[in-house]
Amino acid sequence: MVVLEARQLTKRYAGLPAVSSVSFSIGEGDILGYLGPNGSGKSTTVKMLTGLLEPSTGHVLYRGRDINVDLPAYKRKLGYAPEEANLYSFLTGWEYLELVGTLREIDAKRLKAKADSMLNDFAMFPHRHSPISSYSKGMRQRIMLIAALMHDPDALILDEPFSGLDVSMALVFRQVIKLLAHSGKAIFFCSPVLEVVDKLCTHLVLLRQGAVVACGAIEDIRSKGMAPALEEAFLQLTERVDSDGLAANIVAAVQAPC
Ligand SMILES: Nc1ncnc2c1ncn2[C@@H]1O[C@H](COP(=O)(O)OP(=O)(O)OP(=O)(O)O)[C@@H](O)[C@H]1O
Ligand SMILES: [Mg+2]
Repeated sequence: MVVLEARQLTKRYAGLPAVSSVSFSIGEGDILGYLGPNGSGKSTTVKMLTGLLEPSTGHVLYRGRDINVDLPAYKRKLGYAPEEANLYSFLTGWEYLELVGTLREIDAKRLKAKADSMLNDFAMFPHRHSPISSYSKGMRQRIMLIAALMHDPDALILDEPFSGLDVSMALVFRQVIKLLAHSGKAIFFCSPVLEVVDKLCTHLVLLRQGAVVACGAIEDIRSKGMAPALEEAFLQLTERVDSDGLAANIVAAVQAPC
């Protein structure tokens, strides 16, 4: 069953398209990797999917219904980890989770048990009473992921979830995503890295300048021998620059007389 659907999503900023006519659907158990270089429109899509940003045209549907019909109900079913961990830095990790859990209407006793258990698994338990302002980037990211998962959402939207995590935590979290998908959750995550998407996803959407250039089930892409073509398409998007020449230019600019 389709959980989340983007239908012809378009977003223009001052007339310029950041996302153009993007459509996809995510079923129960699907992990959709949303792949594209910097500035290709991934986060803009995420903000529309989560109901934070109104599309210029197009719709987001949750289980066949426009999310705007009942946005609060949709948000209760949704787990969202944004690109940047802009948390309330004056709160402690625990206070933040308590706040989010209360907003999500988790029973206070269960909330404490759940948060304690997850803080422990994410190696954040010893730091739970320190202010978020004292956390490293990866620590903030961990708290944000706990907050996104704590109410056991049906759909998960993760904007570059691995960007701040160290290798071992990234491995653990990758497995968490797989297990959640196996239990029937619908998962959407953005990444600028092909390998990450390739290892984890059941479906893929490749984006360039806001438009879909390739999409499909990873299995189909592989079985139809499309993987090399996809890799080629991705390389063309990301590595069209002469990296050595560009690096030399940057260093020359750095070292130019001040
Ligand atoms: N609030 C805004 N106002 C104007 N333009 C914006 C705004 N937000 C995003 N854009 C533009 O939309 C385009 C897509 O940006 P977006 O943040 O969606 O890219 P992204 O794929 O998430 O990139 P990254 O990999 O760097 O996170 C960019 O050209 C960006 O400048
Ligand atoms: Mg982004």
